[in-house]
Amino acid sequence: MAGIRDANSELREKKALSGSVALVTGGSRGIGRAIAHRLAGLGASVAICGRDRKALEDSAASLKKLGPRAFAQVADVTQAGPVSELVAKTEAALGPITILVNNAGIGLFGPAHEKTEADWDRILDSNLKSVFLVSRTVVPSMIKRGSGDIINISSLAGKSTFAGGGIYCASKWGLMGLSGCMAEDLRDHGIRVSVICPGSVATEFSGSRPKDPSKALSAEDVAHAIEAIVTQRPGSFLSEMQLRPLRKA
Ligand SMILES: NC(=O)c1ccc[n+]([C@@H]2O[C@H](COP(=O)([O-])OP(=O)(O)OC[C@H]3O[C@@H](n4cnc5c(N)ncnc54)[C@H](OP(=O)(O)O)[C@@H]3O)[C@@H](O)[C@H]2O)c1
Repeated sequence: MAGIRDANSELREKKALSGSVALVTGGSRGIGRAIAHRLAGLGASVAICGRDRKALEDSAASLKKLGPRAFAQVADVTQAGPVSELVAKTEAALGPITILVNNAGIGLFGPAHEKTEADWDRILDSNLKSVFLVSRTVVPSMIKRGSGDIINISSLAGKSTFAGGGIYCASKWGLMGLSGCMAEDLRDHGIRVSVICPGSVATEFSGSRPKDPSKALSAEDVAHAIEAIVTQRPGSFLSEMQLRPLRKA
């Protein structure tokens, strides 16, 4: 264990990601904020987006204290126009995106038969269509450069089913399919596509926190998994990570 910790702190000291440019969608709070801060601490220039300007500015202000450069843009990742603008402005401010973390997402729970068409569209657009929109905008320049990391934040709900999970599980199972196919489409271009499936994480996701945070993951746990993925040596990739709290709720 000591050896692993030493190796990790050495990587941080050496700023393993200096020269990298990361875009983290939904970097204003929760898991995305922890990921953005971890990547900045490793030396990456980091861009974040979200819809709430105040939360975004707060996250960007603390990012600027950590990394070489930070950029924040109010953007709704469910819409193609704002996504194009987000990517163009990020690349103008920081340079070509080398790491994309598709993290933005929302939850809605309860029996699917009680939900509306608008509920379905909102969840599928936020958790699945957004990944398609942002990835297809970022990928062409990664292909040109022959390298890149794309990490999609799915969920254990993308691997299992449970009562009340209908629409959310559908979005995350869809994301698992999209991620696997993107990985196959892009590996020969030198682009690594990974997917992380966390269990319950103590954030304000869907307006509630887990009853017992000691039996949930922290956003930092997910950031640690991201660090493992982006510092994996070239020539191999961690295609899928399932992350569980040690103690069951
Ligand atoms: N928390 C959990 O237990 C858990 C477990 C497994 C997987 N996940 C996944 O982890 C990801 C992050 O969840 P979290 O717990 O960190 O949630 P959170 O605290 O609610 O944060 C979600 C982030 O996404 C942004 N966002 C949501 N919709 C957006 C949109 N249309 N356009 C741009 N930004 C948007 C939010 O900002 P604005 O609201 O300001 O737009 C916020 O920054 C999600 O994909 C979620 O499905 C969460």
